[in-house]
Amino acid sequence: MSALLSVRDLQKTFGQVVAARDINVDVPVGQTVGIIGANGAGKTTFVNMITGHLKPSGGAIIFEGGAITGLPSRKIMRLGVARSFQVAQLFPTYTVFENLCAAIAIAHSGTSVFSAAVARFVSDRTKGEAETALAHFQIAPYRDALASTLPQGMRKLLDIAMATAGNPRLLLLDEPTSGISLEEKFDLMEVIMAALKARGTTVLFVEHDMEIVRRFADRVLAFYDGTVIADGPPTVALDDPRVAEFITGTLIRAKDGTLKAPTVSHA
Ligand SMILES: Nc1ncnc2c1ncn2[C@@H]1O[C@H](COP(=O)(O)OP(=O)(O)OP(=O)(O)O)[C@@H](O)[C@H]1O
Ligand SMILES: [Mg+2]
Repeated sequence: MSALLSVRDLQKTFGQVVAARDINVDVPVGQTVGIIGANGAGKTTFVNMITGHLKPSGGAIIFEGGAITGLPSRKIMRLGVARSFQVAQLFPTYTVFENLCAAIAIAHSGTSVFSAAVARFVSDRTKGEAETALAHFQIAPYRDALASTLPQGMRKLLDIAMATAGNPRLLLLDEPTSGISLEEKFDLMEVIMAALKARGTTVLFVEHDMEIVRRFADRVLAFYDGTVIADGPPTVALDDPRVAEFITGTLIRAKDGTLKAPTVSHA
């Protein structure tokens, strides 16, 4: 099967900082990929290059067989690549339903401008799609609430529902559960992943919580110092010794150079 997304020898430098180097990845249609790595490992940089928010310094990004390397983000979005950010991007003075209508109308029109005046004239098709998104992402109870008043979990769901407005084939989620309590995280991800699976969306999601990665990713890409140090099913990648040492901290290097489980102090 040919890949939906292929990344070849991708590089990014910021002055002296190498934020991405020698990244090679093929993602088939329908896969859910968890991206892990410590702070500053290059996860967001990788996402930003795929979505066109950053221009790579070298290498190629191929989406559905065509090069998208360095194209403007709006063009890449129109080709079927969408994203959410680490902090939700909403219209705070619109209701949940209006936010969805706005995102869908923007996706249909291909423009980036949306005004309250335009919101009154959204088509029945747009409204129908907004109602479907309300149901898929389980935010219907908040339909008429202002976005600014939403609890954090609902903000995340609305943000991701809005990112899927143009029915993207590929969706990149940068830390979808950041700022969400441990108790709420799993339920939130269940809703998000079920909605995306129902749409057949291929997903790359950045996540710091390894239990979430284990549960929801088909495949893990582990980033360290700008490059991929492990790539495989969660059961394999999360047990990789370099991942255990540099990312999850489940192994530490002793003075003699051997890797050991950390000793738990009860002091
Ligand atoms: N616009 C920028 N200008 C200069 N350096 C940058 C820029 N963006 C990222 N970097 C640097 O590139 C490296 C990778 O950063 P990136 O934001 O991709 O990490 P990350 O894995 O997403 O981290 P986090 O888990 O904290 O979100 C870091 O050293 C960071 O300081
Ligand atoms: Mg980041």
